[in-house]
Amino acid sequence: MKKIFIVANWKCNKTIQETEEWLHEFDKQFKIDTIDIDNKKVIVAPSFTLLEHAAYCLGNLNLALTLAAQNVSPFDEGSYTGEVSAKQIKEFAKYAIIGHSERRNNFCESKEVVAKKIDQALRCSLTPIVCISEVAQISNPQLSSFKSQLVIAYEPFFAIGSGNPDTPENAEKIARNIKKELGEIHVLYGGSVTSSNVASFTKVANIDGVLVGKASLDPLEFLEIV
Ligand code: PGA
Repeated sequence: MKKIFIVANWKCNKTIQETEEWLHEFDKQFKIDTIDIDNKKVIVAPSFTLLEHAAYCLGNLNLALTLAAQNVSPFDEGSYTGEVSAKQIKEFAKYAIIGHSERRNNFCESKEVVAKKIDQALRCSLTPIVCISEVAQISNPQLSSFKSQLVIAYEPFFAIGSGNPDTPENAEKIARNIKKELGEIHVLYGGSVTSSNVASFTKVANIDGVLVGKASLDPLEFLEIV
């Protein structure tokens, strides 16, 4: 049975208190529902400022969620004001989302910058979750060289935050093409995933999970997705 990735991308949302409330609410219902997550990897990506407290709460609750950062510096530690390095992230997280289209568009992240971020993450044993909005974006030497160590998330622009997801058939076709180019690699689908449509994506052969934005902000909706 394939292992399903379910990644919550909180984007620029939540305070420390709200994070604590989310984790406690998720945990309470998770234990009542006795959900088996042996075949799943459930990952939460909060803002940098929340990672430490989220890690602390997960430890206290003994909750089997893994943390991801939403970004990583393209540089090693040093004189890079405002950046957070892979080494700093590694203290709390195992994954880093890289190249989300909101970063490529709002912060002018080029494919060269994305490649540097992948490199920095891998040097510190953080698994990159590399977002692409079209198959052409995998023609990045960094992606093909390190493909066995990456997770790819296919997120078409039109589907992000629009309530208008791609069709499972098209997402499956794209995932198949990505695997044809890169070989056996985990490919996730992202864009307007909710508890009502998640199964239509995860049941198809080449999609190995989902990246969830808006619907992950509510712990009970995210639990429903899980
Ligand atoms: P959405 O966001 O689920 O709100 O569409 C997905 C994402 O941007 O990762």
